[in-house]
Amino acid sequence: MADMTRLSGREKWATKIGLILAMAGNAIGLGNFLRFPVQAAENGGGAFMIPYLIALIFIGIPLMWVEWAMGRYGGSVLGHGTTPGIFYGMTGRKKWAKILGAIGLWIPMVVAIYYIYVESWTLGYAIKFAMKAVPKIKAVEGLSQEEYLKPFKEFLGEYLGAKGKGLYKPTFAYIVFLITFAINYYILYRGVVKGIEAFAKKAMPLLYIMAIILLVRVFMLETPKGSAVEGLGFLWTPDFSALKKPEVWIAAAGQVFFTLSLGFSAIVAYASYIDRNDDIALSGLTTTALNEFAEVILGGSIAIPAAVAFFGVAGTVSVAKSGAFSLGFVSLPAIFVNTPGGMFLGFLWFFLLFFAGLTSSIAITQPFITFLQDDFGLPRKKAVSLTMLLIFIVVQFVIFIPGVLDEMDLWAGTIMLVLFALVEIVIFFWMFGADKAWEEMNRGGIIQIPRFFYYITKYVTPIFLIVLFVVFMKDYIPKSLANTSKEVMLARGLMIGLFILFSVLALKAKDHKEVEE
Ligand code: PHE
Repeated sequence: MADMTRLSGREKWATKIGLILAMAGNAIGLGNFLRFPVQAAENGGGAFMIPYLIALIFIGIPLMWVEWAMGRYGGSVLGHGTTPGIFYGMTGRKKWAKILGAIGLWIPMVVAIYYIYVESWTLGYAIKFAMKAVPKIKAVEGLSQEEYLKPFKEFLGEYLGAKGKGLYKPTFAYIVFLITFAINYYILYRGVVKGIEAFAKKAMPLLYIMAIILLVRVFMLETPKGSAVEGLGFLWTPDFSALKKPEVWIAAAGQVFFTLSLGFSAIVAYASYIDRNDDIALSGLTTTALNEFAEVILGGSIAIPAAVAFFGVAGTVSVAKSGAFSLGFVSLPAIFVNTPGGMFLGFLWFFLLFFAGLTSSIAITQPFITFLQDDFGLPRKKAVSLTMLLIFIVVQFVIFIPGVLDEMDLWAGTIMLVLFALVEIVIFFWMFGADKAWEEMNRGGIIQIPRFFYYITKYVTPIFLIVLFVVFMKDYIPKSLANTSKEVMLARGLMIGLFILFSVLALKAKDHKEVEE
């Protein structure tokens, strides 16, 4: 009986469109507009797209359904919207499952910590463009690419305080971070329906409009060095030779995970607020489609074509290789200031990024809030405040100590999620049972998922994930462990500390008796 009141006390998405837009907002983020173009350019443009599409079909789409189904089952049957409780319930109450489930709290928390900070740069840049407080560049002709980009490179350095040794100086960036943090806090504080859903309904249509305006403007760019259309050619001319390169596969699969928010518990937690008998088959697919449209069509038609118009294909590739943020924070602003209406375009670009980031950062923060509510019975507001307090403490290290961000991104945002996704599939399809899992995925479905995906999800996806993980073990992990600088060790210490904390919490969590339908 107590269980029933607890279950009925969980929030539920108020409308179908609200759910879809919140899920799309979850998936569409900085990954679509910043990360995708960099990954694509670095990995050969058209050469990247084939492994990307394959990873989308064999990992992305199946995992999307798996996470929706696990979340809905967790929320509506088990009374748990996060993986410690879900894994526990699905494995017939195994203690170790709670520890594995703690990974599903740890990944989103670590990513939330640095993601909110990066998101704050986009707001900071939007404000700088709105105030026209950015470097002006006269002309492209006669300047080498390096000379042309230098003012904005320095601008980014100053913004982040990279130049000043010792004490952190950029007060502006810190204040903007506080504002960004407060906005996240506010939306989450209002709850799933009044906060997340209400915000997504306004933000998502606006986001598409902003992206389309930018795309149209970028298509008109042309300089003696190239044109936007050539940029599209670079992305859309397939190159099958890349299929032989493992690093392109890793990059493509990694991008599919990141952009669809898979392996982060973020989809699971959102899905836990879906009614037991509501559709997930079509809704999950719709979310994927909305994200892919925002990624390959919109995200693929802004940063790369603009850069190719100004620097040619080779120049664009070298920008992408020079750092994860150089395309979005250095090249694009440098291009926009040199075109008519550039201040407005720059503002629009960063404001678009900010909105995309915001609807994602609330989604990465939600799992831990869900956990505190479901597993410790905390009221929403208290759960939100505790979660935000933890983020606030740890993010100080990310802000003040260079190198911490990259280390966190490597472990939580790249390596562990592959392992975690594998655990999800094994528990759901192999322990809970493939037929029951399939039933869950199709339950209440507006469409019937093609049977083909039953076999894909059961066999192909896990094998794909195992291969990826083996490549990580052989290549990435030894290489990155070789770095033992003080900053990196600190980052590792923080991450281990968080993992221990979450494991203990997961083990201490309240057990709920399964409530059968
Ligand atoms: N998918 C988001 C993006 O593309 C990032 C994200 C990851 C959001 C995990 C939520 C959870 O930027």
